[in-house]
Amino acid sequence: MDRNRQLATRQPFDVVSNPEFLREGAAVADFMRPDRVVVGATSARARTVMEQLYAPLTSPERPLFFMDPCSAELAKYTANTMLAMRISFMNEVAALCERVGADVEEVRRAVGADKRIGSSFLSAGVGYGGSCFPKDVKALVATAHAHGLTFPLAEAVEQVNERQKHWLVDRARAYFAANGGLAGKRLALWGLAFKPSTDDLREAPALTVIDGLIAEGAHVIAYDPVAIPAAQKLLGDRGGKLTYATSAYEALAGADALLLVTEWNEFRQPDWARVWTLLKSRVIFDGRNLFDPDQLRTLGFFYAGVGRAVPAVQEVAFRQANN
Ligand SMILES: NC(=O)c1ccc[n+]([C@@H]2O[C@H](COP(=O)([O-])OP(=O)(O)OC[C@H]3O[C@@H](n4cnc5c(N)ncnc54)[C@H](O)[C@@H]3O)[C@@H](O)[C@H]2O)c1
Repeated sequence: MDRNRQLATRQPFDVVSNPEFLREGAAVADFMRPDRVVVGATSARARTVMEQLYAPLTSPERPLFFMDPCSAELAKYTANTMLAMRISFMNEVAALCERVGADVEEVRRAVGADKRIGSSFLSAGVGYGGSCFPKDVKALVATAHAHGLTFPLAEAVEQVNERQKHWLVDRARAYFAANGGLAGKRLALWGLAFKPSTDDLREAPALTVIDGLIAEGAHVIAYDPVAIPAAQKLLGDRGGKLTYATSAYEALAGADALLLVTEWNEFRQPDWARVWTLLKSRVIFDGRNLFDPDQLRTLGFFYAGVGRAVPAVQEVAFRQANN
């Protein structure tokens, strides 16, 4: 045994579990103002050290919870799976809204105002991504399996999310079905990162959308404020079927439709007159319900959002008038 190892093994130490609840792009703010701090520790000595360490950041409103390490780890998986479950649940509601002629944004407003439910993580869209939700949902399911249980609710969260990533391709395919399908179509895609304020493409819905569109013979022109270098590295040009634009407007030139994937602030209030001039056909598929359907329809665009029903006659009429 060398001298360093001998020294190390003679030092008393404790192991604690201290899961973090930090969001990408907001990690410093989340760290400084935590909802709570969770520490799994078995010794009084470790608790004292952790209490001192977190003293500047905790208060009665920002409590420090001590528990056993197993509960601390499970608290982390449970929190993330519950948030992911809210997203998948609303995506299921959105699918129903489209069938029955409702608007999921109205449903969300009404449901989120219930104090018992709250309004966070209820937005319908093209699915969650990133490193944490997908990984932690899987971890909860795997942990249940490893202990002889099933966890059908968490499994459904993941299945619904995977289905939801196909919403844009399915919606665009349905729209263009009577017009030669997606083959040969030029489609502008706004947003590559799995969420705004990051260039992270892990499990990003944009990856499913791009490959789905290209598989059907479309050409994709993608724009993202920060994630293009990461996308170029990960995806390349997909055999010439994927082009990267240097601005949101450049992506639109001659396109048969705009597909919104990530709700970056710079996409919130585009110059619609400019969008109108650049698009070849004025068709918008909004994967994050970022835009105002009434405004766009009044301006003459075809608009479809997630869980926002479009009357079939309106869709057929628009397509016929614009063929
Ligand atoms: N980011 C990390 O490196 C990291 C590391 C470890 C743990 N975590 C944990 O994972 C959690 C998730 O972190 P994150 O960085 O992925 O960010 P996040 O919580 O901001 O977003 C996660 C997903 O939820 C979606 N989402 C956000 N708000 C929504 C809403 N109102 N309605 C519907 N969908 C919404 C986002 O699009 C994204 O796909 C954190 O809260 C933290 O507990 C994160």
